Amino acid sequence: MRAMKLPLRTPRLCVREFTRADFDGILAYSSDPRVTRYLFFGPRDEQSTIEYLDGLLESQLEAPRTRFELAVEELASGRLIGACDLSMIEGGVFDLGYMLGSDHWGKGYATEIALALVESAFLELRAQRVISTVDVNNRASIRVLEKIGMRWEAVFRKHRRAKNRWWDCHMYILPREVWESERADHERTVQRTAGRIKPS
Ligand SMILES: CC(C)(COP(=O)(O)OP(=O)(O)OC[C@H]1O[C@@H](n2cnc3c(N)ncnc32)[C@H](O)[C@@H]1OP(=O)(O)O)[C@@H](O)C(=O)NCCC(=O)NCCS
Repeated sequence: MRAMKLPLRTPRLCVREFTRADFDGILAYSSDPRVTRYLFFGPRDEQSTIEYLDGLLESQLEAPRTRFELAVEELASGRLIGACDLSMIEGGVFDLGYMLGSDHWGKGYATEIALALVESAFLELRAQRVISTVDVNNRASIRVLEKIGMRWEAVFRKHRRAKNRWWDCHMYILPREVWESERADHERTVQRTAGRIKPS
């Protein structure tokens, strides 16, 4: 498997490796119950943030690397505002995810991140397919997946049990051949998203 070139630059964001210095920033967004409402984990406390950071720093040393859990930094402020990930779940199939501090919702950032990760998955990691599973009630995330051209594939009832409940999830997929044929549209979406909201 090829490597992913980091950092990734988008018009308003930098997607880079996490470091130990990110601890406070990670704790700030992932301890917020609004942020973790539709995530299988959290909200995180200090101890679970230490364990999460230890695990992801270890994953940076994997060879070949199958998990890219990455920091999202806002270029204008230089602040850590969230995380995103691409994880290989089987040969050629990558799972996409993202989360942002709630102060940064609604600016088109997740769309910008997801487009950049999908491009890296296909161009650098030679993915055959990118997938994402999302809670059926997570409207913002579903909208992001649709905006970047992912296609609804299935609904999994009781997909997983976490935080004392069963989760019904949609699965979205983007096959390589669809991405290739729609790449020009994706680029127009990047331009639209970045142009709509001026950097603060
Ligand atoms: C999901 C998340 C990453 C979206 O980030 P974001 O930067 O606000 O996303 P974008 O601005 O790129 O796009 C959000 C889209 O959803 C829409 N949206 C937001 N809330 C919505 C709602 N309740 N119902 C319908 N649409 C909604 C927005 O209007 C926007 O669509 P538009 O561009 O057509 O107007 C962010 O809400 C988040 O971090 N949530 C917590 C973590 C999480 O759930 N991650 C996803 C796990 S699968």
